[in-house]
Amino acid sequence: MKCVDDFRLQFGKQELVPIIIGGMGVDISTAELALEAARLGGIGHISDAMLPTVSDRRYETHFIKEKLKQYKYNIDNSDKSAVKFDLGHIAEATRLHVGKTMEAKRGEGMIFINCMEKLTMNAPRETLRVRLRTALDAGIDGITLSAGLHLGSFALMEDHPRFRDARLGIIVSSLRALQLFLRKTAKLNRLPDFIVVEGPLAGGHLGFDMDWAKYDLHTIMAEIYMYLQTEKLNIPLIAAGGIFTGSDAVSFLENGAAAVQVATRFTAVHECGLPEKVIQEYIKATEEDIEVNTVSPTGYPMRMLKNSPAIGSGIRPGCESYGYLLDGSGNCAYIEAYNREVATHPKAKKISVMEKTCLCTHMRNFNCWTCGHYTYRLKDTTRRLPDGSYQILSAEHVFRDYQFSIDQKIALPDEKP
Ligand SMILES: Cc1cc2nc3c(=O)[nH]c(=O)nc-3n(C[C@H](O)[C@H](O)[C@H](O)COP(=O)(O)O)c2cc1C
Repeated sequence: MKCVDDFRLQFGKQELVPIIIGGMGVDISTAELALEAARLGGIGHISDAMLPTVSDRRYETHFIKEKLKQYKYNIDNSDKSAVKFDLGHIAEATRLHVGKTMEAKRGEGMIFINCMEKLTMNAPRETLRVRLRTALDAGIDGITLSAGLHLGSFALMEDHPRFRDARLGIIVSSLRALQLFLRKTAKLNRLPDFIVVEGPLAGGHLGFDMDWAKYDLHTIMAEIYMYLQTEKLNIPLIAAGGIFTGSDAVSFLENGAAAVQVATRFTAVHECGLPEKVIQEYIKATEEDIEVNTVSPTGYPMRMLKNSPAIGSGIRPGCESYGYLLDGSGNCAYIEAYNREVATHPKAKKISVMEKTCLCTHMRNFNCWTCGHYTYRLKDTTRRLPDGSYQILSAEHVFRDYQFSIDQKIALPDEKP
């Protein structure tokens, strides 16, 4: 019977443990978590979502304060088109986060950055260009392009000196999305170095409509694998979404996957960015506590715990401080939903907006508890403590469990002294 450690992910001459910890914004996949994956010989992700905010929290910068000062006059205005990001600040925040993480890297593994195209930041091309190129400047090992089709992203890096040596990959949820990407980037003569195929059981935003339950990762993987074989394209395929045990991972590795990308099990570890009391919410969740809903203003369905404080919260849009989801014309679906609610209840002191949520503010404050489908199994991966709470794990424990476990077994942590 095989375990994950019987396989290796080959990138050129480099051999890695075929376990990738997926990007989890906003700073849920922290530098500390990514560094553990790299130390243990796999791949970890940091996230490029809302880096100016993350930098303020981690590196004592003041990007948000400065932005708010500049745009405070606009807070009561529903037209947010004037609220722009300072490209210098984005670059500085990216340089700090990527640079410091890469400096701290030890071991044989790699660190990638997860880049969400859907963070349109009221100037999609300009801001994305700075984010991608600065991450390369600051020495990131690779970039995973996610959430959005990224049809123009390779071109934004085309003349960067590291364009051909950094590992650049894409997340897709269908063969069609992959074909579109390959067609669009064909003239650059640069294929992606890896393709993450993310199925419908993943956490975060889903690349499916609300009929996600009709789809299945094994089937999509097989379709894409066949296509690459037919086209004689030798690109590592990485399976993601609902891979909960080492044996689940082996079932993909034996069927053409070069690695697996996992995330949900790493939401129950000390190194992840979630506050401890939120981790407890994840671990104690039951299957009924989890839903896929449409409250994200991005337009993509998102999976989350039903008791997330973000759901139904009617806070004023936080665009003057954040504004990461403003499209190229300064619109966000939350602003529209909020304004409709205010117009319906003009005298109310507090309103509730069910349709959409202010995702920037709530992700920043860890109030949107996005999670994978199998979050309800987290309680089987740890011990219940005498006070009723659950023991939080170490990233190393979970990583090694994926790497060495067989027969659908999950290793419990050592008992706390
Ligand atoms: C809490 C959480 C946040 C996530 N955030 C992101 C994100 O910001 N960008 C992204 O591309 N994927 C995100 N994902 C998806 C993961 O990177 C990963 O591909 C997927 O969840 C793997 O499935 P699993 O969670 O069942 O292991 C997130 C997943 C979780 C659980």
